[in-house]
Amino acid sequence: MILLKSPEELAVMRIASRIVAEILAELRKLVAPGVTTDELDAVAERLTLEAGARPAFKGYRPRGVTYPKTLCVSINEEIVHGIPSARKIKSGDIVSLDFGVVYDGFFGDAAITVPVGKVSGRALRLMEVTRNSLYAGIEQMRVGKRMSDVSCAVQRTAESAGFSVVEDFAGHGIGRSLHEDPQVPNYFSRGMPNPRLQAGMVLAIEPMVNEGTARLKILDDGWTAVTADGKLSAHFEHSVAITENGPEILTELNV
Ligand code: MF3
Ligand code: CO
Repeated sequence: MILLKSPEELAVMRIASRIVAEILAELRKLVAPGVTTDELDAVAERLTLEAGARPAFKGYRPRGVTYPKTLCVSINEEIVHGIPSARKIKSGDIVSLDFGVVYDGFFGDAAITVPVGKVSGRALRLMEVTRNSLYAGIEQMRVGKRMSDVSCAVQRTAESAGFSVVEDFAGHGIGRSLHEDPQVPNYFSRGMPNPRLQAGMVLAIEPMVNEGTARLKILDDGWTAVTADGKLSAHFEHSVAITENGPEILTELNV
């Protein structure tokens, strides 16, 4: 069931999403060689609580394995759901930070991929294309369009650059739950659910784009998704409200 948000609910979701955006902007500045992913997680958790919010991911337990941290940090061939640890970030890494909060009953969710020090041209290109595919999808989030318009825009942007989109994870509706209907796939094939987009929908769109194969493996920790061929992956996400006036990117800082 797709839940449409009232103007009052949307007002709270703007706040939740702004908290996410502001904290991600702080975390981005801290991503540097020698910093551990646990250190980033600790800052994320402290800033979340200081903002009067709670971590959205910590304690989340969709299939029997509880997610233990506030932040997901996925490095290089890690696609999503990397668990913070004592691992040190190094120059040349690309680091995805995926972060969500719940504020006054509503969730916000966003992700960025950050280059560290000297990164290969190919890695930079992958990041750029992934971000472009996110924005190509958002551009389609308009009343009267269908989900396939969003999914196809993401897929076309990634594939025309020679990269592949991950099919095993999708974006999602977001609201009083982190994951609501509808799914927001990053590819389209015939027979998939294809709802019409309506004002009041709030969607988290999150393309994961791979340098090589789209196939993935889940590590023994039960969470970390890595590329099956060990090549790079990038991830960008925004929470977006569909309004009569077009998409409103809730997790973008409007400075
Ligand atoms: N943005 C990701 C998602 O929507 C992050 C979830 S992390 C989890 O699936 F721990 F909550 F699963
Ligand atoms: Co998400």
